[in-house]
Amino acid sequence: GQKIAILGAMTEEVQLLESQLKQAKTKQILGFEYKTGKLSGKKVVIAQTGIGKVNASITTTLIIKVFRPKSIIFTGVAGAVSSELNQGDILIGKKLSYHDYGRLTNDSLKFYPTRNPHTGNFNPQFFLSDSLMILMSEKAAKEVVLQKITPNSPTPRILAGTIVTGDTFVASSIAVAGFKRNYQADATEMEGAAVAQICFQQKLPFLIIRSISDKANEAAPADFQTFKKTAADNSAILVKTILKYL
Ligand code: ADE
Repeated sequence: GQKIAILGAMTEEVQLLESQLKQAKTKQILGFEYKTGKLSGKKVVIAQTGIGKVNASITTTLIIKVFRPKSIIFTGVAGAVSSELNQGDILIGKKLSYHDYGRLTNDSLKFYPTRNPHTGNFNPQFFLSDSLMILMSEKAAKEVVLQKITPNSPTPRILAGTIVTGDTFVASSIAVAGFKRNYQADATEMEGAAVAQICFQQKLPFLIIRSISDKANEAAPADFQTFKKTAADNSAILVKTILKYL
């Protein structure tokens, strides 16, 4: 059968999964490394994209062209926008949008749909993760054991919601308030919607899983450094469990 592609932006986001790959092999494409093998008994190809929308797009496009995966999962960390989410918690991205795409005026940034010249289709403001993959994540969520962020923290929660993507690390409570108001967002990161757009255009099912490293506020730069490893591992642990059901 076909492989499932797994992507993460930073080393910490792919480390755990790459280290647990069985029958691991590495393939170089245009200087990028793609690792194939088996995880949870499923054939996978794993790649680190690098940070941001352009890096994510290059890696996603190449992985589709070369490996023809049956679906794509992105795993990694995010800044919380919803006050329901704390460090170590997981957000299953049901809807993905850009927070830095559209028509910028003095008053607002409004979505501006453009036509894909190759298909004639318009991209929607929100890209939707595959409903069956979301269902399987919710199944996996019931049995997965996640790491606590500190020994005294509560057990991490797993919620589903909306992710906004942009080419900025957000460390602003003013920006967070805008993401809530304008997108009803629950978390923000830097790659999800780019991967989602490519999968939408290529008609490939995708799923974006993110664990919270920070709250995208003024404390975010310090929190990100402190919590990124545990958060990245929690996301990877859930993805490994989801694979069993795909
Ligand atoms: N990934 C993790 N935290 C983030 C933040 N605050 N902004 C953008 N991407 C992030």
